[in-house]
Amino acid sequence: MNHKVAFSFADGKTLFFPVQPNEILLDAALRNGINIPLDCREGVCGTCQGRCESGDYSQDYVDEEALSNQDLQQRKMLTCQTRVKSDAAFYFDFASSLCSASAPEQLSGKVTEVRQVSASTAILHLDLDLGTTGLLDFLPGQYARLLIPGTQSRRSYSFANRPSDSNQLQFLIRLLPDGVMSNYIRERCQVGDEIALEAPLGAFYLRHVAKPLILVAGGTGLSALLGMLDELAERGCAQPVHLYYGVRDAADLCERTRIAAYAERIPGFRYTEVVSDPSPQWAGKRGYIAEHFDTSELRDAPIDMYVCGPPPMVESIKSWLQTQALETVHLYYEKFTESNI
Ligand code: FES
Repeated sequence: MNHKVAFSFADGKTLFFPVQPNEILLDAALRNGINIPLDCREGVCGTCQGRCESGDYSQDYVDEEALSNQDLQQRKMLTCQTRVKSDAAFYFDFASSLCSASAPEQLSGKVTEVRQVSASTAILHLDLDLGTTGLLDFLPGQYARLLIPGTQSRRSYSFANRPSDSNQLQFLIRLLPDGVMSNYIRERCQVGDEIALEAPLGAFYLRHVAKPLILVAGGTGLSALLGMLDELAERGCAQPVHLYYGVRDAADLCERTRIAAYAERIPGFRYTEVVSDPSPQWAGKRGYIAEHFDTSELRDAPIDMYVCGPPPMVESIKSWLQTQALETVHLYYEKFTESNI
């Protein structure tokens, strides 16, 4: 007998659909026209996560970087790995409209610029080939998966800008000592190269801004937040915005001129950078970002906090918020699992 499942979303909408016994929840949702944002389908990226509010379920595989033990205790689950054992209800912290969007598009773009912007980061600019009328409509904070030219390897990168009529895209790329994308960027990437990509992907995006914002970037997690800041600067923002940016070494900091310029365009913009393992010459803030949070700012009023960075950084901020009992902070986060090759 089928199980009856309810999916509720942050915009208050609830959708009901049947799930066959032992069926993967994601397959049932897609079959019923509910396009939950997804990427890996392997329990690794965490994109398809939700929280079970009632009912019994099991999960085939959950990578520890997608959901922590604490997440699992809170009944967070990955739709692509979940099988329901009874009627059940799940909550997703994004708007239902994200699920009615059509499947990601298969696109192609030309490299217009590639530039190293710090010791460990490059910025890649692409001009999408969508004809005269096409527009890639994505939400600031989402990402694209790029096919690395001359290989069969794909890597995911957050958009570092907002959507525009000119279909220009930017991505911050972390340069590894030896990685498929890093080697391409350092050794072969030329202006004019064609790069195939799939986009838009992901459920991390800037919501309607009705509260003060705290944006927290770890390393190239800055990319998604630059897209959000571009959007805030372009649309106007009446709320204060505080960007925290953490890196390992000061030489890893990038796009500081661009960040400084947001102060001209977003009234109430504040910026704090933190270096976890600096040289003795570094005169700025040291350690981990959570150690430098302005707690008076966090306790003042309800806050929306957006965090994008490596899983340990995201987990440390989640734990810190919990120990501080800051229940007025609504946390949205994206853990990017960096490929080491
Ligand atoms: S799509 Fe990646 S964890 Fe489900």
